Amino acid sequence: MSVLAIDAGTTGVTAVVVSATGDIVAKGYQEFAQHFPKPGWVEHAPEEIWQATLEATRDALKQVDASELRGIGITNQRETVLLWDRETLGSPRRAIVWQDRRTADICLRMREDGHEERITELTGLRLDPYFSGTKLRWLAEQEPRTWALVEEGRYAVGTVDSYLIARMTRGLHHVTDVSNASRTLLFDLTTGDWSEELCGLFGVPQDALPDLVPSWGDIAVTDPRSFLDLELPIAGIAGDQQSALFGQTCFDPGDAKCTYGTGSFILTNTGRELVRSDAGLLSTAAWRSPDGELTYALEGAIFVTGAAVQWLRDGLQIVGSAAETQAVASTVDSSDGVVFVPALTGLGAPHWDPHARGTILGLTRGTTRAHLVRATLEAIAFEVRDVIETMPARDTLKVDGGACANDLLCQLQADQLGVTVERPRLTETTALGAAFLAGLGTGVWDSTDQLRDTWQLDRAFTPAGDRAAADAAHRRWTEAVERSKGWAQL
Ligand code: G3P
Repeated sequence: MSVLAIDAGTTGVTAVVVSATGDIVAKGYQEFAQHFPKPGWVEHAPEEIWQATLEATRDALKQVDASELRGIGITNQRETVLLWDRETLGSPRRAIVWQDRRTADICLRMREDGHEERITELTGLRLDPYFSGTKLRWLAEQEPRTWALVEEGRYAVGTVDSYLIARMTRGLHHVTDVSNASRTLLFDLTTGDWSEELCGLFGVPQDALPDLVPSWGDIAVTDPRSFLDLELPIAGIAGDQQSALFGQTCFDPGDAKCTYGTGSFILTNTGRELVRSDAGLLSTAAWRSPDGELTYALEGAIFVTGAAVQWLRDGLQIVGSAAETQAVASTVDSSDGVVFVPALTGLGAPHWDPHARGTILGLTRGTTRAHLVRATLEAIAFEVRDVIETMPARDTLKVDGGACANDLLCQLQADQLGVTVERPRLTETTALGAAFLAGLGTGVWDSTDQLRDTWQLDRAFTPAGDRAAADAAHRRWTEAVERSKGWAQL
């Protein structure tokens, strides 16, 4: 018995097959193009996401016996919005991605009109271009001809999970779960349903939105004509960060994890309690069980961490691969006074400034690429520290995601936090979470207790070095963050 998990992330789609023992037994991956039509804008072509999903899944399935599969779990980059024709499933335009900053002015306008407090009260979020609501309002304002077809009911509106499910079921299902819905600015976190008031405020017809289904259980069945000859239950859905929380088996209130992906996202399970933060954290839905029980989380969302490493590779071209950063950064003992604030798409938690931009301070004639690469890894550790400091104190932090393979980063993180950083044996935790959800939904596993037993430690990184020096470095970072703010407005 096994399950297929599809992780449709920001830069590519990963498909994994997970056995009943909780092991990843096959894997496929396919990147897709990033489109940057204007500074601060980020788009994806829906068809390319779909083709990457097919390709990654095909690859993974080549390595296993597909007749063993019991179901499919889907996890995805959140907040990104897509439109598609309910009949043809074609999209009239590219998706607007969570990183896209084009709606900063809409946010400002709505703030000036006094809407922010109510929006935060209902959604647990903030008025920031990050979330889907203002992206949809932008489409309504800027592309009225397309939007008219949304209002007529021809085009569906959704997030990446709902789009993939529509494609996999040949348009039969238009669904999402609470973890994705709670990132749209259209979802009432207390009632656990779409909010008529918010749909009105953002000008989104509620009929265009997906139906809400539990995060695991009977959700839909794939149509073999559309999805690689597979007729399988889709039995789990979660936004990628909530999925990683599930994959790290953070089932109890207080359990927390940090995922290092394109950005980094620290989530703490708060159980049945909707906890609010006045320090820049978001309240969000973690998952909803088939019997309707809603679990909440507190989240610190950092937009650019792995993406900064990607920029070193593709933009500056000073490293050949992300993995190389560890070796290059280790050739120097420190960044020698260089501080890099990777606010390449503004700043998220806890600073929240869509107008901040990337800033490098402290360059001298002696600065080398090694210093800049090290400053990038340090920046990731500082960013995570900024978020963790707004949360209740803890002794350990579970980490996962691609960049936590980097031992130097994990060590820098432990040094900055002053707590032990625990890396599990399987760091593909996002995909694992979706597999767990699908496995619970199809009876591969009976309970979360059984899943907890699959978690195994790979390595614990304990804080080392001089605490005072770590704090002094962090103070310089804080000063650099202040200097990066508001730049795009000048
Ligand atoms: O909120 C954005 C997040 O869901 C994106 O995650 O893993 O694609 O960086 P990732």
